[in-house]
Amino acid sequence: MCGIVGAVAQRDVADILVEGLRRLEYRGYDSAGVAIVDQNNHLNRIRRLGKVNILADAVNESGPIGGTGIAHTRWATHGEPSETNAHPHMSGENIVLVHNGIIENHEELREVLQQRNYEFRSETDTEVIAHLVDWELRQSDSLLEAVQKAAKQLTGAYGTVVMDRRDPERLVVARSGSPIVIGLGVGENFLASDQLALLSVTRRFIYLEEGDVAEITRRKVIIKDHRGNIVERTATDSTIEHDAGDKGGYRHFMQKEIFEQPIALRNTLEGRISQERVIVDSIGTGAADILSRVEHVQIIACGTSYNAGMTARYWFESIAKISCDVEIASEFRYRDFVTRPNSLLITLSQSGETADTLAALRLAKEKGYMAAMTICNVAGSSLVRESDLAFMTRAGTEIGVASTKAFTTQLAALLILVTALGKQKKTVNQATESKIVKALHELPTNIENALSFDSKIDELAQEFADKHHALFLGRGEYFPIALEASLKLKEISYIHAEAYAAGELKHGPLALIDADMPVVVIAPANDLLEKLKSNIEEVKARGGLLYVFADKQAGLEATDTMKIIAMPGVSEITAPIYYTVPMQLLSYHAALIKGTDVDQPRNLAKAVTVE
Ligand code: AGP
Ligand code: GLU
Repeated sequence: MCGIVGAVAQRDVADILVEGLRRLEYRGYDSAGVAIVDQNNHLNRIRRLGKVNILADAVNESGPIGGTGIAHTRWATHGEPSETNAHPHMSGENIVLVHNGIIENHEELREVLQQRNYEFRSETDTEVIAHLVDWELRQSDSLLEAVQKAAKQLTGAYGTVVMDRRDPERLVVARSGSPIVIGLGVGENFLASDQLALLSVTRRFIYLEEGDVAEITRRKVIIKDHRGNIVERTATDSTIEHDAGDKGGYRHFMQKEIFEQPIALRNTLEGRISQERVIVDSIGTGAADILSRVEHVQIIACGTSYNAGMTARYWFESIAKISCDVEIASEFRYRDFVTRPNSLLITLSQSGETADTLAALRLAKEKGYMAAMTICNVAGSSLVRESDLAFMTRAGTEIGVASTKAFTTQLAALLILVTALGKQKKTVNQATESKIVKALHELPTNIENALSFDSKIDELAQEFADKHHALFLGRGEYFPIALEASLKLKEISYIHAEAYAAGELKHGPLALIDADMPVVVIAPANDLLEKLKSNIEEVKARGGLLYVFADKQAGLEATDTMKIIAMPGVSEITAPIYYTVPMQLLSYHAALIKGTDVDQPRNLAKAVTVE
């Protein structure tokens, strides 16, 4: 779930490990730890509850030396966040390991291991792996073999790195359900759960595949696949900018990422649209053929990515005339669903590692979908590797737990896909195609313009700071934009927020309206504007406090209880992306005023790699 870093080098690795953990902080965690072993088999393990900085101070004080080490940030799943439950965990005095994920059969294994006289020192599921490896090592020739044997007995999801104090020049890693990359250096090698952790030491990576177990020494990497055969995995050079982990003058990563949206969107569009056309082949090899056979689209995603899918559903049906269903991955994977003929499965994910989405993809592959496509932001991620087509959003690394630029770039990618699908199905004619492409070309500049509302929205956010609840309203494709706005506000400001399709107001939520609950309305100039105006009146009549983000042409006038934020008109097609930006800024400023941890909100993790 959280962060793993490992290193085998000739130099002292403490700083590399701690720096790696810092770069993974954005994923959210509750405790951190490091274990380092030197040439003389001296092991130093330091663990702390709380932030990496606290661990870093302890590491500086005790100055552990040694060239081989492992480090971890933990997001507790089994056992409370505490120093005792923090990783690395040990079996006896020799076996040390870190683990991401969940071992589902930990209770069963704990019983067996207790019968073998192993003493448990934590409440974690992780500790069973340490004792299991220790047990298997007694009847194996190498740590690699012992980890392979132990891995076979584990069910659940794990990425784990094991070190043996008696053999200080070797790390063994196993991957099943949690990502692990090997970073290649010169005379030194590294490991991490995310390449970002290692960008200060290397840019060359090998991505382990499901079921792989590998041994890493200073000069060698040996990888065995799930069958136990030695395999070669190609090394690739990372294209991530070196400073992706820096805030670059911004106060928070989230703020930086909101302001990066024009450039992120330019990257998404690059090479995918010409002056007037969508380039179908840019979606991937074989995309044109697959798209021409599609009769139904099934979108699967979680959280913000789900909201992007919900928005795109309107586009799939209104533009490409292809029926589209959208479902939350954690529901889809446990439901007896019927696969529609010639249905294209699309997973949407920033990280490409969300456990529920990945499980849904694997299930769908067994259930006869014609092809699986992912729209994703992380190259080499599990969803990318396991899908037939991967359409990368190219938003750049997103560090703030609250997703921003990943969402708007997903929407742009989806609009390209919808147009390409319509072209292949002959439901989108040249005139419509050029209208959409023109809107996409204008989009980055429109977003720059939306960002210029920052200080105005900051003022407005002051009025939210003492509120406990907020309601967001939209109609049509602005309903999912309202859903996303409410998710953002609750995630980072901890203000309870709900989103409703405005027409649904009278069926219940109207009962909530009073002067203490701000109602935010997204009101672009479109066919539904008149209907929305009636919904606004419904709120006004009940003494509600309204904040309306409206097109300048909408003809709405401010009153004592209704503030109007007049937005310049943009193309109707891309307007949902445009109206997302003021919503992001509103949440950001509300959170700043409330003084919350904007980039790492409480209880949340960036990539949810457990169920
Ligand atoms: C977004 O602000 C959230 N932190 C969360 O809902 C996120 O979108 C969700 O966990 C899905 O993540 P993914 O896009 O990486 O699959
Ligand atoms: N399940 C393990 C624990 O609770 C690992 C959690 C993680 O992935 O950080 O310690």
